[in-house]
Amino acid sequence: MAAFHYTNSQLHMENTAIADIAKNIHTPFYCYSQSTIETAYQNYTSQLKQVEHLVCFAVKANSNQAIIKVLADIGAGADVVSEGEMRRVLKADVPANKIVYSGIAKTKSEMRFALDQGIFQFNLESENELERLSAVASSMDKTANIAFRINPDVDAETHAKISTGKSENKFGIPISRAREIYKHAATLPNIRIQGVDVHIGSQLTSLNPFKNAFKLIHELVVDLRSDGHDINVIDLGGGLGVNYQKDEMANARVIDYCQFIQTLFEDLNCKIVLEPGRSLVAEAGLLISEVVYKKKGEERTFLIIDSAMNDLLRPSMYDAYHDIISVKQDSEDTEIVDIVGPVCETGDTFAQNRELAKLEEGDLLAICSAGAYGAAMSSTYNTRLLIPEVLVKDDQFSVIKARRSYDELIGMDNLAAWQD
Ligand code: LLP
Repeated sequence: MAAFHYTNSQLHMENTAIADIAKNIHTPFYCYSQSTIETAYQNYTSQLKQVEHLVCFAVKANSNQAIIKVLADIGAGADVVSEGEMRRVLKADVPANKIVYSGIAKTKSEMRFALDQGIFQFNLESENELERLSAVASSMDKTANIAFRINPDVDAETHAKISTGKSENKFGIPISRAREIYKHAATLPNIRIQGVDVHIGSQLTSLNPFKNAFKLIHELVVDLRSDGHDINVIDLGGGLGVNYQKDEMANARVIDYCQFIQTLFEDLNCKIVLEPGRSLVAEAGLLISEVVYKKKGEERTFLIIDSAMNDLLRPSMYDAYHDIISVKQDSEDTEIVDIVGPVCETGDTFAQNRELAKLEEGDLLAICSAGAYGAAMSSTYNTRLLIPEVLVKDDQFSVIKARRSYDELIGMDNLAAWQD
């Protein structure tokens, strides 16, 4: 499902040469392959034929409206965690009845906004949220469709910062108290219980943690039904990992994951909701940069590129590995380099001791699998401008986020009233 290939020694995304985009748009920039995103979505839906399902793109992974619209146009819903995300997905044509609203700290005004839109489901994370939602919905004379996010106390076997399903994590209600909490919810006004929800973490590369958690969810649904609750939606969250280092198994993992889900839940006749983020968009995205300097240090050679940790935070935040490749394929010569950004922190490093085709100042390189949690987590640290984003479709490309100007960025500050 790679988003790119070399033709005539030039890196192409679909049928567009990256170097041609770079002639039009200065580096650094993100670029995304539309067909790779569509294929990733269809990999899920084509596997889930035996159960009623809704695939809700977790837009925190990439919240550009053009990307959301690519998925909305082929039927996807959206998983949102803020009013901002809800506004974005509505603008990008996701119907309200395909929106699930997750997150542990929904405020009253966010709840009001969601109720006004008529969203598909609130995924509640605590009794506090339940009480507040009931009060807000009652004051508006509306009914809120809810599921509780269950914390199954299962180890997701992923990076600690993105593990969410253990009892020590801040997420969800403990599975041991779920029946009692659903019983209470059933007594509250303007609340309609419709489902259960679980999300145990992100970038899971083994299916076992999912299997362990989902079996517990299956048992719980049976128990909740026997308690008299009308459970007809099972939201299994996101979390399926991608291969940041080359490996052909990514599609196989989606197939196995979907097969397991269908087999396990088929008897319950529920609508299955999935909330994938990374696995829909990561592999579709490249971060394109230029080598600004090639600096021979005493011990290492540094390729200092024009993108930095503020553009792609994952390597410095999670020690994440991303493949890095040359845009021009003509060099058989390789060398071992550190690839670093210009920010004044040693953590601003994309790769260490990496063997790469020999690159010189002015050459272009691509950081792979950057379509998820790349642009979405970027910042203007070091007063660097947010970088453009480009969508590629076959031999066309279009700028889906333009570079902002320094005037706009610096103009966001005001001097205090007492400063002249
Ligand atoms: N649903 C919920 C409730 C979530 O919290 C998340 C991700 C997802 C779905 C989507 O998970 P995915 O399919 O993308 O794994 N910034 C980190 C990842 C943070 C994930 C947060 N929650 C990274 O760059 O690895």
